[in-house]
Amino acid sequence: MNKFLVCTSMLGLVGSVWDQDFSYLDPTLPPEKRVDILMEQMTLTEKIGQMNQYLALEKMRRKVETNAAENTGNRNKKVAAMLADLDAGLIGSTLFVNSIEESNALQKRAEQSRLKIPLLHAMDSIHGHCAFYGTTIFPTAIGQASSFDLALVEKSQEITAKEMRATGYHWNFWPYMSVARDARWGRVGETFGEDPLVVSRMVTASVKGLQGDDYTDKDRVIACAKVLLGDGQSINGLNFAPTDLSERTLREIFLPPGKAAGDAGCRTFMVAHNEVNGIPCHADRRLLTGILREEWGFEGYTISDWMDVERLNWIHKIAHDQKEAVFLAVYAGVDVHMHGPDFIGPLTELVEEGKISEDRIDRTVRAMLLDKFRMGLFNENRYVDPAAAERVLANAEHRAVALELARNSIVLLKNNNQALPLSKQLKSVLVAGPLADSNALVGDWVYAQPPENITTVLAGIQNLVGAQMKVSYASCSEIMDITDEDIERAVQQAKEVDSVIMVVGGNDARVDEDWKTADGRRNRTGGENRARSEINLAGRQLEMLKAVWETGTPMVVVLINGRPLSIEWVADHVDGIIEAWQPGMNGGVAVAEVLFGDVNPSGKLPISFPRSAGHIQTFYNHKPSTYYREYKFGKTQPLWWFGHGLSYTTFKYSRLKVPQQVTAGSSVPVSIVVENTGTRSGDEVVFLYINDMISSVTTPVKLLKDWARIQLEPGEKKTVEFTLTQEDLALLDINLESVVEPGVFEVMIGGLKKEFVLE
Ligand code: BGC
Repeated sequence: MNKFLVCTSMLGLVGSVWDQDFSYLDPTLPPEKRVDILMEQMTLTEKIGQMNQYLALEKMRRKVETNAAENTGNRNKKVAAMLADLDAGLIGSTLFVNSIEESNALQKRAEQSRLKIPLLHAMDSIHGHCAFYGTTIFPTAIGQASSFDLALVEKSQEITAKEMRATGYHWNFWPYMSVARDARWGRVGETFGEDPLVVSRMVTASVKGLQGDDYTDKDRVIACAKVLLGDGQSINGLNFAPTDLSERTLREIFLPPGKAAGDAGCRTFMVAHNEVNGIPCHADRRLLTGILREEWGFEGYTISDWMDVERLNWIHKIAHDQKEAVFLAVYAGVDVHMHGPDFIGPLTELVEEGKISEDRIDRTVRAMLLDKFRMGLFNENRYVDPAAAERVLANAEHRAVALELARNSIVLLKNNNQALPLSKQLKSVLVAGPLADSNALVGDWVYAQPPENITTVLAGIQNLVGAQMKVSYASCSEIMDITDEDIERAVQQAKEVDSVIMVVGGNDARVDEDWKTADGRRNRTGGENRARSEINLAGRQLEMLKAVWETGTPMVVVLINGRPLSIEWVADHVDGIIEAWQPGMNGGVAVAEVLFGDVNPSGKLPISFPRSAGHIQTFYNHKPSTYYREYKFGKTQPLWWFGHGLSYTTFKYSRLKVPQQVTAGSSVPVSIVVENTGTRSGDEVVFLYINDMISSVTTPVKLLKDWARIQLEPGEKKTVEFTLTQEDLALLDINLESVVEPGVFEVMIGGLKKEFVLE
């Protein structure tokens, strides 16, 4: 029997003796049994400690030094409090461990605490494990969604999980399941776009990639679907601002991705900063218990977002003090408190006063401990080996996937007069613009990386065609600092070349102490907490584009950015436009290949491009009356709709087949023939939309129901088959019940339409 008597002399304590049963350390016992043995011995405070998450030590120290932490409280006290809690075994998880050494050191300290409970290390490894040095960086989510390539997205997350585990991480605050309905919002680049089905499928693929069949396997991590709920349509597009959405919109647009994450077995959920319809999400019991647990059957645990429990008092003003805020959050269904020392105390008091039951605490602690046992963290997987990690991080196989995903994510927005691809026979090209040689192409949530791991657009072009043509570069200040000299330099150099490639857009990359991607905060034009009241090209970028265009030298534009941009002038004047989003570490390689035709672009927009901020909201799945009237001045319709994306070849759609009559309850087979009628091989994304023609409540003019990504050689034809299920035909009736109403439905694929009657 694995029972040890721990006596005062062994612990160096005087005056108390107790029996401690360490048999839960025995890996041969079933995990559930180990949880029981351990929990039996935990004090209430130790249990609550499991719900306590802290920013890891080095990061916290740096925040103290740089004075960049949250705006209240004594930060040095926080470091001291964190260490005291760690030594007392009162921390369940951390976020943002800096290095493998730190991961191991924190685990060691935790192992030296009374019950030796290991830590879960968590991080936002959102497009690769990219907040960690030397890892693989994939395109950001908006680019991943543009690829419409679920298999590749899943693969990228599988790699992310591998790299996380290799560095001692277990929990990823990913995927983002918010639907982006306002391009002013800074986090659009972190999302999978505007369509709930696309977001749901991308979320499902991400959860599968991260967790695999069993998230406790040694190469997998716990996924965290974030956030509940509705931050993608906040008032004024500002992060944190209230969301005011009808129950219908919540159920039709914002909740389905969460349900999909739950159905995919996502182990954890994160709560949103914002309020919805007057209730801050962190205090919304109907959402966190009613919908999440009772409706969706979720059995994992939730985590608050950064200091948001505190904000119930500080910002939302629905709690008088921290204790009431903790009560509201835990009662609503928040399980883990992200960062901060003021949690254990208030929650312990609340339980002692009978306001929160101990069973409620046990539910969370049981689930978390079970994960720690099943992941082997009490035993063989507590520590990680830096040498082994070196073989995994950003290895050749991982980089190849990052490149493939970048290639598939690039969208050719416009190509008049065969502006693209550029000929390799050109004698000279100029690469110009503030993002031409910028690391901003990695996107948000990336911290310091080895410079040689990132290929900028300029480097990609030099590597690809530098040997056969003169590639010149007009250096340029950062986006918000463009000077007369920058513009003049680009203009003069443009006059001397055959063709100009202008690289403009936005910069969502975080500022890091060691790796400045943007000069201070000024030049960060997107990303978390970087909403904009305009969605144009920030700073003097358009002025620069116009000046270069005036030279008459042929010019193409590459956009590197996270949100749709209102670029009406560019769309009207420039013949070749590429949306590269934030294509990750190999982004410059992929952009160069698309520019010079080595890769035929195949990405499609997962979000529409409004003409201006004043056109927001703009999304394809709008109601029939949305555009019944037009704006008085200028055009009303967007620059490009969701689903837009050109190719260097042409595809012809024909023979759309749909049955004329469908009996109630049966599914609907649909097929279409797609032919590559051009001269190059190419990938096409075939979208299937439907419209419920007359219904008891209004329905969108079109709704995406399925898609297929296919590859076709010149002259090749393929029949693509889909099946519409009854669920695909359902709507939420006047009572918000899901029903299928008989009547006429229209099916739309690639510009062709056909109706069927549902009896
Ligand atoms: C963000 C979350 C993130 C958390 C931890 C918050 O500011 O809103 O998306 O997971 O920080 O880094």
